[in-house]
Amino acid sequence: MILFWIIFIILFLSFGVIVFIGAPYVPSRIADDIKLFDELNLKKGSVVVDLGSGDGKVLVEASKRGLVAVGYELNPFLYLVSRFRLRKYPKSKVYLGNYWSADLSRANLVFVFSAAPFMERIYSLLKNQLKKGSYVASYAFSFEGVKIHKKIEPINLYRF
Ligand SMILES: C[S@@+](CC[C@H](N)C(=O)[O-])C[C@H]1O[C@@H](n2cnc3c(N)ncnc32)[C@H](O)[C@@H]1O
Repeated sequence: MILFWIIFIILFLSFGVIVFIGAPYVPSRIADDIKLFDELNLKKGSVVVDLGSGDGKVLVEASKRGLVAVGYELNPFLYLVSRFRLRKYPKSKVYLGNYWSADLSRANLVFVFSAAPFMERIYSLLKNQLKKGSYVASYAFSFEGVKIHKKIEPINLYRF
């Protein structure tokens, strides 16, 4: 019984409390992620950052294409799953940590699947750090008042 409650509390903290600091875990569709990477056709070695990288599927797709993928994930279970999935791609990595303190200075593409209440703050984070010409792909949500470079449904692509 005690073991049940320990597991319950760990799962609750990992998957439940997250809603107060960022979006909960809802995976993007891999078909949409593939469409984005096909469309952008980034050159090998480009840096892709996923803010809230979930189970690491975006990181793996980027890595398969010779891109350097960097993920930030607060949920320890998803972090471990991502680490395992990235084991064949030593140039890519996932950090167990908060994306509000992410380093985006080397990013050529930032992938964001967040939620409406966080979009304004995420936009400030991106604007303060991204180099000119970087792409931002926002899955399902948009930045209010910011011109969309291209729509790759359900992704809004921005050029900074
Ligand atoms: C909507 S899911 C997107 C997952 C993944 N990017 C995808 O496309 O499948 C958002 C993820 O962000 C993580 N997350 C939320 N807030 C976070 C924060 N402040 N720092 C790091 N990860 C966060 C959640 O745990 C969740 O896995």
